[in-house]
Amino acid sequence: MDFLMFPLEKNSNSPLYEQLYKFIKDAIVQGNIKEGDKLPSKRKLADYLDLSQTTIELSYSQLLAEGYINSEPRRGYFVQNIEELALIEIEDSQIVKEEKTPSYHLDFSPGRIDEDSFPFTLWRKYARDLVHEENKELLQLGHPQGDYILRQQISSYLYQSRGVKSTPEQIILGSGTEQIMPLLIRLLGNEAVYGYENPGYPLSHHLFLEHEEKSVPVRVDDEGLVVQELENTNATVMYVTPSHQFPTGSVMSASRRSQLLAWAYQHEKRYIIEDDYDSEFRYTGKPIPSLQGMDQNDRVIYLSTFSKSLMPSLRIAYAVLPKPLIKQYKAKYYYYSATVPRMDQYILAKFMEDGHFGKHLNKMRKIYKRKLEIITKSLLEYEPAVTLSGEQAGMHLLLTIHTQKKEEELVALAQQANIQIYGLNKYITFPIEETLPKLVLGFGGLEFSNISTTIHELMKAIKIKHS
Ligand SMILES: Cc1ncc(COP(=O)(O)O)c(C=O)c1O
Repeated sequence: MDFLMFPLEKNSNSPLYEQLYKFIKDAIVQGNIKEGDKLPSKRKLADYLDLSQTTIELSYSQLLAEGYINSEPRRGYFVQNIEELALIEIEDSQIVKEEKTPSYHLDFSPGRIDEDSFPFTLWRKYARDLVHEENKELLQLGHPQGDYILRQQISSYLYQSRGVKSTPEQIILGSGTEQIMPLLIRLLGNEAVYGYENPGYPLSHHLFLEHEEKSVPVRVDDEGLVVQELENTNATVMYVTPSHQFPTGSVMSASRRSQLLAWAYQHEKRYIIEDDYDSEFRYTGKPIPSLQGMDQNDRVIYLSTFSKSLMPSLRIAYAVLPKPLIKQYKAKYYYYSATVPRMDQYILAKFMEDGHFGKHLNKMRKIYKRKLEIITKSLLEYEPAVTLSGEQAGMHLLLTIHTQKKEEELVALAQQANIQIYGLNKYITFPIEETLPKLVLGFGGLEFSNISTTIHELMKAIKIKHS
């Protein structure tokens, strides 16, 4: 092989040794240098290519390390039989480049929480107390369902605040709803056919649409899931967000709740997955008890998370499994360790045990309620061009825009003004009837001091004028 053909690029980002290494490697892989061929000595090649011996040394070392050549003492470097090597060539173009997350001037994404009211001092105290030799046992693996101490706290919290009936033995922890849901799907087995809300939580769409033939979208209106439509499908498991439908914000009416439970009771093995993700935050009227609390026949799998009540990055969610399922769970999944770090479980358990979780929720409820009031007041100035819905609970609401423009146009206009906001269409899998454009306005992460300016900026960006 003619080494003079080596296309050296002095100004390339890739160092010279790497260019040479790649050139020789490719020649070996393509058979231009054969097994047993001797490579020029380092000194000779350095002279020949007018490169330093160190550069040649580095290239040869890399080839040696990867097994393309071997070195025989006092004889030199020889090409190896590369068929014996497991060649995994990854083209640069195949490597998915990490996308930079765009940073927006204003962000109405529904997953964001208020950052300024997190109890950092307290959390730090619990973390500091815990990371101590005294607790060295925590270095070992804990219970596969999550440590009892936290499950106990969750169980009593759920009973008091959501009317959920459980024992700690029925609770499983996971690092997020998105961790627990696939597990539930595996637990419910191949025969399950899933109903999911349309519009709905993108994760549920993503999961259930992986098995499109085994899932059906079910419409949602301002009373929540349209159970009558569910009754006309072959679904056996229904995933719902009754406390605050994601993303429309509707709260499931009492009659729909009993209708949904009645649907589940009609056949054995019908289940409801109740995702109660942001139920801690209800601003009008009495808290609505969970479906699980109403269930008399062990047909509701209750699912919730600390992502809204504490922080999404904590990655702690939990499910309360009905008794027959927890038996199956224990039999099937006992060999899987808990996915939540034990130290985090303990910090949270102690935080709850000492009553801080309840206090934090009360504080946050007031904060989000206040944010919502400012938003509502600011938006009032744009009525009737905009109407609000889904604002009784949670940290997002739905904004209907009375305009000729399409939803995508509005989202694009907002983006041009460096504002992140999603349209309802993003949450729809199967087209539903044409309606006015709707924007999902997450307000959890908005800064208190400038919420009204934020709303005015959004309205200006999407070209909605004061009334
Ligand atoms: C409907 C719904 N369920 C659950 C979650 C939380 O998911 P995770 O526990 O994976 O953070 C969210 C988002 O915050 C959600 O919108």
